[in-house]
Amino acid sequence: MPETTAARPAAHSPVALLAATPLFAVLPAEELNQLARTTRTRSYQRGEVIFRKDDAGYTLYIVVSGAVKISVSSYEGDEIILAIFTTGQFFGEMALFDEEPRSADAEAIEPTEVLTVQRDDLIQVLERRPRIAIIQLLKVLGQRIRATDELLQDAAFLDIPARLAKRLLDLAEQHGEATPQGVRINLRLTQQDLASMIGARRENVNRALAYYQSRGWLAKSRGYFTIMNQAALRHRALP
Ligand code: CMP
Repeated sequence: MPETTAARPAAHSPVALLAATPLFAVLPAEELNQLARTTRTRSYQRGEVIFRKDDAGYTLYIVVSGAVKISVSSYEGDEIILAIFTTGQFFGEMALFDEEPRSADAEAIEPTEVLTVQRDDLIQVLERRPRIAIIQLLKVLGQRIRATDELLQDAAFLDIPARLAKRLLDLAEQHGEATPQGVRINLRLTQQDLASMIGARRENVNRALAYYQSRGWLAKSRGYFTIMNQAALRHRALP
């Protein structure tokens, strides 16, 4: 066996998983090894809560596989989905950095495996390697604030069919896979999930979906949406 193969970490070792994460990929090998020794792997079933809003939190989570929904709910049970994170993405950094309670709920929406990094271990890495903080972390946080700003703008300036079209296109861009029929969104989503992502009632989302399906722009099969006419949805997403 060639030496390089023997020395390479196993595909699912914490080192390999960290190295495959944009946040940590820039770390040199010895730093990755050191950080990997402090991590834990955890598995969650679909529907399992990882943490709740207002919990205390000192842990950063990196998604290894599966998908995690970040959401907040009203006392009446209405939910807003702020984000869905999949392989390579991280969450839980806010409570870790600002030392306030968790800002939202985190729930596995697929069978999910995560890698956890504790606050002190992360801070140590960031102190030794401030470039990660500057280039990787701030970039991602900036992108998330942009996405949230856009949600707010859309809620104020777009009607529900436009918000829905825009969100479907975003989901296709982030979680899409090209198929002969069109771009399939690789997340199992209910009408209620989509409603919670755009701050709308399920009945209104149902109506807009039915219209898009009747026009042949969109199809749903076994819980997965496929966009068949991106241009038409893009046009409908305009203000
Ligand atoms: P934390 O507050 O520790 O726990 C909830 C996590 O959800 C938070 O850290 C972020 O990682 C994530 N989160 C909260 N709000 C948003 C948002 N608007 N966009 C993307 N991710 C978010």
